Amino acid sequence: MGVVGAWFRERIPISGSQLKELTNEPVPNHLKRWWFCLGGTPAYLFVVQIVTGILLAFYYKPSPDTAYESVRYITDEAAFGWYVRSIHKWGATLMVAAVILHQIRVFFTGAYRRPREMNWMVGMCLLICTLTVGFTGYSRIRC
Ligand code: HEM
Repeated sequence: MGVVGAWFRERIPISGSQLKELTNEPVPNHLKRWWFCLGGTPAYLFVVQIVTGILLAFYYKPSPDTAYESVRYITDEAAFGWYVRSIHKWGATLMVAAVILHQIRVFFTGAYRRPREMNWMVGMCLLICTLTVGFTGYSRIRC
């Protein structure tokens, strides 16, 4: 092992095979179905919404007199504004759909049962947050 390798090993005292053993847990066969990925979908879309939302916030002017004009500017004039706005709009719709599909999966696989009750309760809070944030966004746009 080189000097750099030894330096890292001293600070992170875990070997490659130990790391492999830790992370290579076999996935049970009944979990290898696409609907078990539906929880990760809204998590990913949330990140997309944050990034595109920050970009839109640079141009969006949230007052009754300026909102429409600023959205028109984003759509027609700002570089790739139409693209960022479209991703944000589709992301919002897909996120709501994904959360609902995820909840349906959890319900029909009985995954809300003991010891996952708290998971379900946190999930309900996330559902309310998703719908509320979605509503505030949908209220801004007319088309
Ligand atoms: C923003 C919304 C949400 C995100 C990002 C999210 C994320 C996740 C992720 C990544 C998992 C791991 C398993 C999987 O991917 O299916 C999971 C599991 C779970 N979620 Fe969600 N979730 C959300 C909303 C909800 C809602 C609305 C409910 C129900 C009210 C819920 C209840 C649960 C339960 C009970 C599990 C455990 C399932 C199991 O052990 O098989 N989640 N969630």
